[in-house]
Amino acid sequence: MSTENAIPDAPEAQKAPRAPQKRIEVVPPKATKLGETEVLFDLDKVEVYYGSFRAVRGVTMQIHKNEITAFIGPSGCGKTTVLRGFNRMHDVIPGARVGGKMRYHGIDLYGENVSATEVRRRIGMVFQKPNPFPKSIYDNVAFGPRVNGAKSKADLDNIVEKSLRGAALWDEVKDRLKSSALGMSGGQQQRLCIARTIAVEPEVVLMDEPCSALDPIATARIEDLMHELKSRFTIIIVTHNMQQAGRVSDRTAFFTTELDSKSDRRTGTLVEYDATSKIFTNPSDERTEQYISGRFG
Ligand SMILES: Nc1ncnc2c1ncn2[C@@H]1O[C@H](COP(=O)(O)OP(=O)(O)OP(=O)(O)O)[C@@H](O)[C@H]1O
Ligand SMILES: [Mg+2]
Repeated sequence: MSTENAIPDAPEAQKAPRAPQKRIEVVPPKATKLGETEVLFDLDKVEVYYGSFRAVRGVTMQIHKNEITAFIGPSGCGKTTVLRGFNRMHDVIPGARVGGKMRYHGIDLYGENVSATEVRRRIGMVFQKPNPFPKSIYDNVAFGPRVNGAKSKADLDNIVEKSLRGAALWDEVKDRLKSSALGMSGGQQQRLCIARTIAVEPEVVLMDEPCSALDPIATARIEDLMHELKSRFTIIIVTHNMQQAGRVSDRTAFFTTELDSKSDRRTGTLVEYDATSKIFTNPSDERTEQYISGRFG
């Protein structure tokens, strides 16, 4: 795996930032060259409705395997709504409907023969607020593997240890695996939720503002973790923290809202999607520049 700086034009771009007043630290991806990996998700004119309200429209983008993609944009622009589309969470929201095409490995995620349960097993999600089950630390992590049929204690012990190590939590909890997960700190609970998600070996981990309730130390641990997990998983993260998007992601998608002539309501749309270094130093669209420099949104 190459360790060279992946984005050829990043150094020049970083030397001469065009607009941002707030400096966004951009750490170019270390593991692979941008775009070197296969396309995992292919979105074509995706739109999402809640009843008759079109919350998001015109989302066309490709997400590559083993990259970290950040979604940024002002509140209400549809980041969570698009994220939920990737693992069919809209199926459980009455009135919600996804239009356009969302392909995963070239397969229509919303195709007739596609099982939403299988989609959610392959594409896991970590939410804004840590949501451990009121069970022991061990049983939280073992929950998914048990549902998927892992039965022997030895197998489960292995999976639990591997997942907790993967989530950089093992050393802190190995002596209290049978204690309640609810007795952990917020940062530990969030890492437990990540362990629970990776325990079923998904291909993709969706994260909706996973650090918004955490202090800077816990946030830094989760960011380090993301870098480590990237070689095994594809990560899509929603964040309001632009420094975080700059630090962790390979590519960034900027969404905003605009007035929908059809409904006279504001609808979310994808403005610009590019290498993170490009978005934060030399964006193509004026709205992106205004947003990242804190002049709008
Ligand atoms: N379950 C729902 N039912 C109806 N409308 C919804 C629902 N969820 C979101 N919306 C609407 O869809 C639009 C996009 O919301 P969404 O939560 O995706 O925005 P967001 O970019 O994630 O915002 P934030 O940064 O505040 O989390 C908003 O107008 C919101 O009110
Ligand atoms: Mg949201």
